[in-house]
Amino acid sequence: MNKITIISGSHRKGSESLKMSKVLQARLEAHSSCDKAEIIDLAEVNLPFWSESYSDSEQALIDKVGAQLEASDGFVVVSPEWHGMVTSALKNLFLLFTSKQFAHKPGLIVAVSAGVGGAYPINELRTSSYKNSRLCYLPEHLIVRHVGSIFNGKEDDDKKTEAYIDKRATACVGMLLAYADALKTAREMMPDMSEFPNGM
Ligand SMILES: Cc1cc2nc3c(=O)[nH]c(=O)nc-3n(C[C@H](O)[C@H](O)[C@H](O)COP(=O)(O)O)c2cc1C
Repeated sequence: MNKITIISGSHRKGSESLKMSKVLQARLEAHSSCDKAEIIDLAEVNLPFWSESYSDSEQALIDKVGAQLEASDGFVVVSPEWHGMVTSALKNLFLLFTSKQFAHKPGLIVAVSAGVGGAYPINELRTSSYKNSRLCYLPEHLIVRHVGSIFNGKEDDDKKTEAYIDKRATACVGMLLAYADALKTAREMMPDMSEFPNGM
């Protein structure tokens, strides 16, 4: 059984990324290999920017989120496309937390766009957030385009697109949980990398 953490990368309150995070959460919780799926909404969890020192309250929040990530068997990283980028809050999360929390655990990337965007966050995360964290992104991802037209529970939602994204999301969740099971064994078999704490 797996515990999955969903990171909703938008720091806009009530974001579409959070809406999609809740859809993914429901699909995860319906799966027999998942016993818990929790959302970290970066619009609500106000992590401080990475710094060389923190106030006591900032440190307490960092420790709390760090412990939650460390206890996870896998991750869903949901990012809106903002000016062709992932959000600064999400990049900051990958500065604050690294291999202790993420190493050799699977990650499903979900990109969210109000229009036809969504490719850039996939590219950015695959390029720049795994080197030192050693987070293993799945060879599959989800791009949710025209996100405003689906999963609103309204009559005029685009039901055809919603059904298609739902089907793909359910398949992605199954893949994430299969890797979460398999990578537990991989973590037990890892060579000692203490001489190389960071990726090359
Ligand atoms: C600052 C900003 C920049 C944005 N830039 C893009 C963009 O480059 N491409 C795109 O497809 N959508 C862009 N959008 C629209 C988002 O796709 C839209 O807000 C969508 O709902 C996902 O963001 P959310 O999770 O914050 O709701 C931008 C939105 C904001 C607030």
